[in-house]
Amino acid sequence: MGPRIVILPGDGIGPEITAAARELLDRLGSFEYEEHLIGGASIDAHGTALTDEVLIACRTSDAVLLAAVGGPKWDAAVAEDRAAPRPEQGLLGLRKGLGLFANLRPVRPSHALLDASPLKRERIEGTDLLVVRELTGGIYFGVSGRDGDTAHDDCAYSVAEIERIARVGFRSARTGDTSVDKANVLETSRLWRETVTRIHEAEFSNVPLDHLLVDNAAMQLVSRPADFDVILTENLFGDILSDEAAMLTGSLGMLPSASLGASGAGLFEPVHGSAPDIAGTGRANPLAMFGSVALMLRHGLGMESAATGVESAIDRALEDGLRTADLGGEATTEEATRAVLANL
Ligand code: IPM
Ligand code: MG
Repeated sequence: MGPRIVILPGDGIGPEITAAARELLDRLGSFEYEEHLIGGASIDAHGTALTDEVLIACRTSDAVLLAAVGGPKWDAAVAEDRAAPRPEQGLLGLRKGLGLFANLRPVRPSHALLDASPLKRERIEGTDLLVVRELTGGIYFGVSGRDGDTAHDDCAYSVAEIERIARVGFRSARTGDTSVDKANVLETSRLWRETVTRIHEAEFSNVPLDHLLVDNAAMQLVSRPADFDVILTENLFGDILSDEAAMLTGSLGMLPSASLGASGAGLFEPVHGSAPDIAGTGRANPLAMFGSVALMLRHGLGMESAATGVESAIDRALEDGLRTADLGGEATTEEATRAVLANL
């Protein structure tokens, strides 16, 4: 029997793009699949966005492939009642529950899409960067609450949390790391910068390292994206900068991601959301999902040649003219899937 993959279709376009991903996987090898609910779909069935059973199934799998969670239906329920469960809790619970502290988001605009980006071709040409985002700490997981008409979300980072993500950042470097923080304002960022600098000096002094403040980094990312290699940053900054970086590829529909822990199953998911506006129309772009399958093959299952095979098939399909609606074309999910399979 092949590797055991837990598939979590989630909400919105999730089921459509995971079906496409299974077709792709079936062409690459023999895998054992287990499908489970997460997010809004799990709230509807069980009243919670992530059940213990699903978390355990993920923990004991070889890899987890997730599509997307969330939608207006559950947002409306939360607007009615603040204590109502939110689909995003499923994703955050999975990240925390599996200890997935390192989120890798490679941004490598396909040659064929250089003119699909809102940025000029001359600026993005040569871009090949990796956002290394800390994923289980910071403001996402700090104490939060309300007190009368005040709300708070605390941001905390420990030295150990910064050290382990810094090491992932340095190990991933090809030409160098840019560590992004807000050390001119935030104490957590000053600890971040100190710790990254110390790990650099002690263990990775051969890797060129720069520090940028996050506002400056946001600006440099659109003015000289090709100069970046690894962007190493904390949870919230990484969330924001990775959406910004995604637009270099022409569409948020193109960006895959891998979330890894110290050991155990990794989680692989497209960076885009559940796109409720086009759910069920058969028009979702499956390419970020296919890119996530490639990352799963590479980082989760040790199948490097299958991974590069998928990535080249995506590139070739785009060169042949494949364009889904988000890229200004008319190809359906089905047609995009055929186009990639034909290029495998
Ligand atoms: C992402 C998403 C999530 C995040 C949401 C859905 C909770 O935006 O993976 O970037 O903020 O991390
Ligand atoms: Mg995000």
